[in-house]
Amino acid sequence: MRYYRGEKLKFLIVLLFFGTSAWAQTGTDKEIDKIIAQMTIDEKVAMCHAQSKFTSAGVPRLGIPEVWMSDGPHGVRAEINWDNWGYAGWTNDSITAFPALTCLAATFDEKASYDYGVAVGEEARYRKKDILLGPGVNIYRTPLNGRNFEYMGEDPHLASKMVVPYIKGVQTNGVAACVKHFVANNQELWRGHINVELSERALREIYLPAFKAAVLEGDTWSMMSAYNQVRGQYCSHNEYLVNTILKGEWGFDGVYLTDWGAAHDTKQSALYGLDIEMGTGTNGLTYSEKNHYENYYLAGAFKELVKSGEVSEEVLDDKVRRILKLIYRTSLSKNRPLGSVNTDAHHEVARRVGQQGIVLLQNEDHFFPIVDKKGLKIAVIGENATRMMTIGGGSSELKVEYEISPLQGIQERYPNAEVIHAMGYASGPSQYGRVIPSKLDADVLKAEAIEVAKTADVVLFFGGLNKSHHQDCEDGDRLTYDLPFGQSNLIQAISEVNENIGVVLISGNAVATPWTNQVKGLMQGWYLGSETGHALADVISGDVNPSGKLPITFPKKLEDNGAHQLGTMSYPGDSINVEYKDDILVGYRWHDTKKITPKYAFGYGLSYTDFEISEVVADKKVYASTDDITITCDLRNNGKLTGAEVVQVYIGKHKSKVERALKELKAFQKVQLEAGEKTSLSLKVSVKDLQYYNESKSDWELEKGDYYIYVGNASDNISKRLKITISDNVN
Ligand code: BGC
Repeated sequence: MRYYRGEKLKFLIVLLFFGTSAWAQTGTDKEIDKIIAQMTIDEKVAMCHAQSKFTSAGVPRLGIPEVWMSDGPHGVRAEINWDNWGYAGWTNDSITAFPALTCLAATFDEKASYDYGVAVGEEARYRKKDILLGPGVNIYRTPLNGRNFEYMGEDPHLASKMVVPYIKGVQTNGVAACVKHFVANNQELWRGHINVELSERALREIYLPAFKAAVLEGDTWSMMSAYNQVRGQYCSHNEYLVNTILKGEWGFDGVYLTDWGAAHDTKQSALYGLDIEMGTGTNGLTYSEKNHYENYYLAGAFKELVKSGEVSEEVLDDKVRRILKLIYRTSLSKNRPLGSVNTDAHHEVARRVGQQGIVLLQNEDHFFPIVDKKGLKIAVIGENATRMMTIGGGSSELKVEYEISPLQGIQERYPNAEVIHAMGYASGPSQYGRVIPSKLDADVLKAEAIEVAKTADVVLFFGGLNKSHHQDCEDGDRLTYDLPFGQSNLIQAISEVNENIGVVLISGNAVATPWTNQVKGLMQGWYLGSETGHALADVISGDVNPSGKLPITFPKKLEDNGAHQLGTMSYPGDSINVEYKDDILVGYRWHDTKKITPKYAFGYGLSYTDFEISEVVADKKVYASTDDITITCDLRNNGKLTGAEVVQVYIGKHKSKVERALKELKAFQKVQLEAGEKTSLSLKVSVKDLQYYNESKSDWELEKGDYYIYVGNASDNISKRLKITISDNVN
């Protein structure tokens, strides 16, 4: 229910009444305060909670429009009914699905993130959304988290760098990004109530930086709470996280909204920074009926507190001021473009991000690229070769105009070869997120796949996870690190009849890969959205040289991951509390520091060409606390193909007085070079980025002394280590 016709007229009359055109207004604080002065308490409170599943109220009398929201983050979700979770069944809400954010992070390319943001923002704008519910930047702590595919990996620097351009891109459309889920929503199991206990250092150094960058550099106009509690208080109304850090230290001037149904208390919601409450079920029900919105914590009960004076009206005004500001930034922004959906440009962005994010993990005997030729027989095996992956996964599910499956992509790209197919295994259909065991006979499927594989020259196995419950899906974690549905056995069995086998993992998470000695090629294919099959075929065929790097670690086994090695209180907790005992040593920080070799390391990814990093130097040997460190190096493409490489700079403190990771990513740059081409690069790191968070002082501290700079093309492939010295302490 947008304001159209009658409402618009009313709005214009209101403008005349104010003697100025709101379209010309910029929404300065003064103007916003003038509007607030006209509003009743009822009108103000009405803006602070949902009035439907995905909108909050405006004030028709004053021409203040409603706020319309949509998921996010990989495309604009299909229209949901006004008052329940059913899809509205519109025929004009099919959109472009962009690759999942793990893939975007794997591009290590800020420009790709900006293009992605612009494109998804245009689609949101066209669909008349004011807030796009994304991106997500919760840190990848365990490969079991069902929602990792919606986030940007395990490293705070990478996530910070990648989230900023996404936000800026979305917001150029006059659509607010909504960065989620603030904070420490690192598991889906018990997400609605689990209390996360973590050190201040882990919070500041690992879990907060991407949110901080989203506010200070990305200027995000909204942020969504996490469902869980942190240190005994729900994130939706957490005094320390929201008042002290987000709105206090970082000066966030946007709207803080709940995750759907994540508010738990009126007074805390009022006082601890919540601006809009969304999705609360009424009387404990998940599905509300109309007019129950009055029962929200920030509705009737809140009004009473304000009217009785128990909560000052200024508290309410602060929320309304933020919401009005967001409205001025979005629906009242006079230069707002109109947006577009399903354009060639959007499809191109989706395909390009997919191409750039696919990670080549193993390539024995130059298995990839596979050249199309007459007489070549390619067996495409695996359920994920044909399964639609834009369906499922929870709130990020999308209704696409089209989705090219891997099989389709291979068929199109290999017109000369013969492409044969077998399903190989069946996961079973998913209904309301739950998997219904397949009625297909697993042995028959397996036997069929083996027969198909026997006759082929090359086998491409498309497996991995899918978007059902206990896979890569919201509201539940994976139950095991292993590949599900008997895939590991199937891969082994196929490899016994055909040794020319390459595996493409379609997943948003690391999985156990005990069969890599039996296969020649391995690619991490993520979830790539509408252009899945095209992007995969581009890389498999060699039309595009792979350049993605892992934004996550693949441990050899689950217990090698820090969160898992430290016992069940560390993951998943006892259902009441979870203690982040791995502390600051998340992902590669843990593997490096504890000397546990991963299967595939953070930052790792192969190319069809060979790169060489050389001449690595820092501009000085000794730096002051206010300096920048400039690291230069040469990068040469020694192979025969054009390709892109990501040069990565990690820095670690030598002999720190506190526990530190051996090294941490501090800069990276992706560069494309033609065969034989060489270039010089220069990467900058500010010395203050080497600070650690000193809990006893509640502040960042720079330790003087020696540091090592590591430059390479993966966290476990360092070309050169340099020693530098920081001359002064900063406390
Ligand atoms: C998810 C959010 C999502 C919201 C609205 C929640 O279950 O956690 O990420 O934006 O639903 O669909």
